Amino acid sequence: MIFNKILPVAVLLGATAAQNATLRYMPFGDSITEIICWRAMLWEKLKATEWGTVNWVGSGKTENNCQDSTYDRDNEGHSGFLAIDIANRQQLVGWLNTNPADVITMHLGTNDIVQQNKPVNDIIAAFTTLVGVMRKSNPSMKIVVAQIIPMGFGSYNTQIQSLNAAIIPWAKGLNTTESPIWVVDQYTGKHHPYKAHLKPIIYVPRYLSGFGLYES
Ligand SMILES: *[C@@H]1O[C@H](CO)[C@@H](O)[C@H](O)[C@H]1NC(C)=O
Ligand SMILES: *[C@@H]1O[C@H](CO)[C@@H](O)[C@H](O)[C@H]1NC(C)=O
Repeated sequence: MIFNKILPVAVLLGATAAQNATLRYMPFGDSITEIICWRAMLWEKLKATEWGTVNWVGSGKTENNCQDSTYDRDNEGHSGFLAIDIANRQQLVGWLNTNPADVITMHLGTNDIVQQNKPVNDIIAAFTTLVGVMRKSNPSMKIVVAQIIPMGFGSYNTQIQSLNAAIIPWAKGLNTTESPIWVVDQYTGKHHPYKAHLKPIIYVPRYLSGFGLYES
């Protein structure tokens, strides 16, 4: 577990320390990325660090009543969207053309399961397409993929856990040195929906700076 926390940080620091002023970070996903305040909180946490100059990118800028008028709102979160649809419609191609990135976090699959009960294999196939798009846009893309948060309603968590289990071998199979994929477990830990929604705050601190914001 120690290696999970420390190795990526070392790799990334080596790769990006010289350019961190212009490092471009795209938060990519559905409503959990778009309309939740973890982005504001994360931006505030990073502000006072060497990562305070990271340029957040994406086509979305919605104000979410996060009581923060200063944070960089740019993101590629799309409420209600399915990973399968984004892949089939090639939407990420255009989004990355418009707003290229060096680092991307992806939290997707929730709507595939909750709205349409899509099979895990189809969601994973969509993830493969999306990683291909990311790497075509930037062969050195640093990719952080979430094992997605649990749902506090309905009976979706069995399938969510199946997806989360499938994400590990999938990510290992596509992993490369130039464009690593790191999996972050957003499912276990604090299950209160509000806390769970905040958990993506660990993405960038954990992988870009490692300065101890990891919530367990
Ligand atoms: C880039 O990060 C390094 C530490 O990794 C820091 O010493 C340096 O000041 C940062 N540069 C800029 C321009 O933010
Ligand atoms: C991918 O490789 C990196 C090292 O480059 C490693 O830190 C990471 O854990 C690997 N990802 C997976 C899913 O094993």
